[in-house]
Amino acid sequence: MSFVVGLTGGIGCGKSIASQCFSDLGVHIIDTDVIARTITQSNGQAINAIKNAFGDTYLTKDGSLDREKMRELVFSDDDAPRSRLEKILHPIILNETIRQIGQARSSYVIVVVPLLFETKDYDHIVQRILVIDCDEQQQILRTMARSNLSEPQVKAIMTAQIARKERLREADDIIANNRDLDYLKTQVAALHSKYLSISISNPRPG
Ligand SMILES: Nc1ncnc2c1ncn2[C@@H]1O[C@H](COP(=O)(O)OP(=O)(O)OP(=O)(O)O)[C@@H](O)[C@H]1O
Ligand SMILES: [Mg+2]
Repeated sequence: MSFVVGLTGGIGCGKSIASQCFSDLGVHIIDTDVIARTITQSNGQAINAIKNAFGDTYLTKDGSLDREKMRELVFSDDDAPRSRLEKILHPIILNETIRQIGQARSSYVIVVVPLLFETKDYDHIVQRILVIDCDEQQQILRTMARSNLSEPQVKAIMTAQIARKERLREADDIIANNRDLDYLKTQVAALHSKYLSISISNPRPG
């Protein structure tokens, strides 16, 4: 297996934009959010199990997951539906991630996992953890600007995620995404050199 960097960070901290910067440098990016969307599209790998567990009511006419309806269900007070859905999705996402790592041909691979610390699933897959960080006020403003979430809603999501301090403590590398895009790109370029040299000293077997 190739050298794998796990990229994570709180909501709106810049995971997507940072992974795009790595991708621009030719790094193979595997995004677990993208996989989650793909497997819940019509004929996706998770659709049959979702149908069996929740019934047709949670599928749209074209046979994909009805996200709106499912969101209402999993954000209700009852935890059971969310955990039932996660039990279906998480193993499929994990398997697909491993499959894609096996197919990747770049010197190293970045796997984007928003809840890397909250789930232990990726501990044995990633060799290094990169945290995209920004201060919390910025995080709130960026998330609000990009979604239609209110400030209390964003704060509630942040509370449900691992605390910033803990995330930073667990990181091997940190990008401080608290300035402009050039500042982000400079840090990405420096880490890219570092990861290339690590991957050269740890060549993939075979
Ligand atoms: N350095 C920056 N300068 C300007 N805008 C930024 C910067 N970093 C991120 N943004 C903007 O902030 C928003 C959040 O960034 P991004 O989508 O990359 O975060 P994310 O961590 O992927 O969020 P999510 O957890 O919701 O997936 C986006 O609209 C992005 O364009
Ligand atoms: Mg994102």
